[in-house]
Amino acid sequence: MIVTTRELFEHAYGKYAVGAYNINNLEQTVGLFRGNLGKHQSNNDATDPAVAAPFIIQISRGARSYTDKRFLEAIIRTAEEIFPEAIFAVHLDHGTEEVCYECIESGFYSSVMIDASHEEFEKNVAITRRVVERAHERGVSVEAELGMLGGVEEDIQVDAAHACLTDPDQAVEFVQRTGCDSLAVAIGTSHGAYKFKGKQGLHFDRIRAIQQRLPGFPLVMHGASSVPRWLVDRINAAGGNLPDTSGVPEQEYLPAARLGVTKVNIDTDGRLVWCAVHREVFRDAPEEFDLRTPGKRFMAEYAAFITSRNKLLGSAGQLEAVRATLAVRT
Ligand code: G3H
Ligand code: 13P
Ligand code: ZN
Repeated sequence: MIVTTRELFEHAYGKYAVGAYNINNLEQTVGLFRGNLGKHQSNNDATDPAVAAPFIIQISRGARSYTDKRFLEAIIRTAEEIFPEAIFAVHLDHGTEEVCYECIESGFYSSVMIDASHEEFEKNVAITRRVVERAHERGVSVEAELGMLGGVEEDIQVDAAHACLTDPDQAVEFVQRTGCDSLAVAIGTSHGAYKFKGKQGLHFDRIRAIQQRLPGFPLVMHGASSVPRWLVDRINAAGGNLPDTSGVPEQEYLPAARLGVTKVNIDTDGRLVWCAVHREVFRDAPEEFDLRTPGKRFMAEYAAFITSRNKLLGSAGQLEAVRATLAVRT
């Protein structure tokens, strides 16, 4: 069942974070549905209520143009039929104004992100407001962004480092003036596999300050992959070359969720699982050329990985509670 991110956030806020996972192809989508239902080996496994979770499927502009956006829509529609017990939102990741309108009009996306965070404040407000008006007319939720994600270097002075982070007072004004449903905030993370230096982690002081000014309002963490050491080691042991990677410490997800970080965006980690599986298959069986061999292993490993993320986010085991709240409302 496709629902809005807003509906998912109402249940999750302050208790757990909903995992938002990017997809680009069939195998990722199958692994994603299986993992969120606790079906690790096959589509026909029984759903495991102890780990089953609500989730968000994210489609970036890059994913939409990788093959053809209609393939992704068809894959998701088919997955919805094969896994009727799943509850999820379909979300445009990092949209421009034009692509947001396209997704809103399509009637397929239940949520869009307008990312005008690179514009100056007034322009970001104006663009976001226009998207919110169009989206809300169609019952679509809107995520917006304020602040600049980026590598925060350990040796940068505190003030300079904080200059990139979301300003809590501006966040209040931005939310009030735009009417957005959730806000992506810069809290120390960056996209990709190289986020922090040394012992850096999330800026909890900043998350707390934003939450105090916007109590009850869902915040979104971009660049949230944890870049697990064991995955990077597997990749490097199988011929990869990913030096000095680092991600969000896994133990920081749940404390952030308790402070209102209700959506956690994970893309890079999924790519690392893909990379490890494929490198190992071809290293261990050089005679192999059947794409289904790594494909099957990837779907199983990705499913298990998704379940492990949901446990860290606290969303594992919440699916039936979400279904019950949705049923009460209808
Ligand atoms: O935030 C960016 C996401 O990781 C999507 O990446 O644009 O390469 O699909 P992509
Ligand atoms: P990662 O690169 O940390 O997976 O972040 C993904 C993301 O923010 C997608 O919008
Ligand atoms: Zn992002």
